[in-house]
Amino acid sequence: MRLSKFGDTLSQGSGIFSLMEDLGSALRENPDMLFLGGGNPARIPQVEAALQQALQDVLNDPLKAQPMLGVYQAPAGDTALLDELAALFNREFQWGLTRRNLALANGSQSAFFVLFNLLAGEGADGVSRHIQLPLVPEYLGYSELGLAENFYRADRPAIELAGEHQFKYHVDFETFQVDPNSAALCVSRPTNPTGNVITDAEMAQLDAEAQKHGVPLIVDGAYGTPFPEIIFTDATPSWNDNTVLVLSLSKLGLPGVRTAVVIASEPLIESFARANTVLSLAAGNVGPAIARQLIASEQLLALGREAIAPFYYERATQTVTLLEQALQGLPFRIHKPEGAIFLWLWLEGLPITSEQLYQRLKARGVLVISGHHFFPGLNKPWRHQHECLRLSYGQPMEVVARAIIILADEVRAAYRTE
Ligand SMILES: Cc1ncc(COP(=O)(O)O)c(C=O)c1O
Repeated sequence: MRLSKFGDTLSQGSGIFSLMEDLGSALRENPDMLFLGGGNPARIPQVEAALQQALQDVLNDPLKAQPMLGVYQAPAGDTALLDELAALFNREFQWGLTRRNLALANGSQSAFFVLFNLLAGEGADGVSRHIQLPLVPEYLGYSELGLAENFYRADRPAIELAGEHQFKYHVDFETFQVDPNSAALCVSRPTNPTGNVITDAEMAQLDAEAQKHGVPLIVDGAYGTPFPEIIFTDATPSWNDNTVLVLSLSKLGLPGVRTAVVIASEPLIESFARANTVLSLAAGNVGPAIARQLIASEQLLALGREAIAPFYYERATQTVTLLEQALQGLPFRIHKPEGAIFLWLWLEGLPITSEQLYQRLKARGVLVISGHHFFPGLNKPWRHQHECLRLSYGQPMEVVARAIIILADEVRAAYRTE
């Protein structure tokens, strides 16, 4: 079979695909694997009940059920939902939105594909522009989205050490500059994989730099504010005409409905909706129908604040305690758990690579993710890339606890014998 360059780019070199395959086959071979690898949201009974009730309410109302199943929506998505979201955000945050600032997509992953390729790549002026990541580690799902070469440029972060066993990444403003050929800046907040929440001050500075250079600032709010609000620290939701805020229903507990919302300037939304129509014809209706119910019952923002964030905060705290006990005496640090559903473990001076550690753990029935996958666009080698692991804490606590005992054993052995 002969594939196009597009075909090769999307189907062959995909790190995210081989990682998912590897995780999937490990789970098939050993269904009892202790799975700290995935990004699936945890099961929270109260949240599941609220979401199922919202769907049931739609199904019970023929005036809602029929259009949910039987109607193609407009290019930017369900107009009623766009109006309600604009009103909600204006009421809560005074963002001054109209429906023309919003578009729906089938999940934020596909929204990023469209957004990134609308902005970066070769321009009509012949200049190649890239997506600039002001700091890495960053979401590995971005890696293969770009249809042009050298699609990302990334900067190393500054590292703030905190206490004996914690640290936090910051944008390194000593060195950070918007590149001349930057098409847009992009950050996930909270960040997958680290649980970092870029501070309000850093966001303000990135926003100012982006505006000064006339490039949009894309904020990936998959875990962020105002929903699903998986944030354990102060973080103000912000938007202006130069910001592209991408929100998703997935981590609210609805990864199966594939629904995301893009909030941006009118011209960008217009281009996005047109491109998305070419690719998808229309956004699906199930997620938007559930979202409308949640807005009507005032749960869209409340579920995150009142049920989801407290659940993950408790999980994060318990997991940190277990790690600190199990890794005692080793040179480990954990990124400050500020949000999202992961912990990021840094094993400084680890004598083997994180990929080797991943393999050893897999052989012992524990699945984590090696940190080296999370540095898209960082061209210069950096040892730190091979010293970190991402651990999800969405699984039941007894699974997390058993995994940590094995993890600590392997880490100890690696430091001892190499
Ligand atoms: C940071 C980040 N952005 C985007 C996505 C894509 O999510 P979805 O396509 O389900 O909205 C994920 C998924 O895990 C993520 O972690």
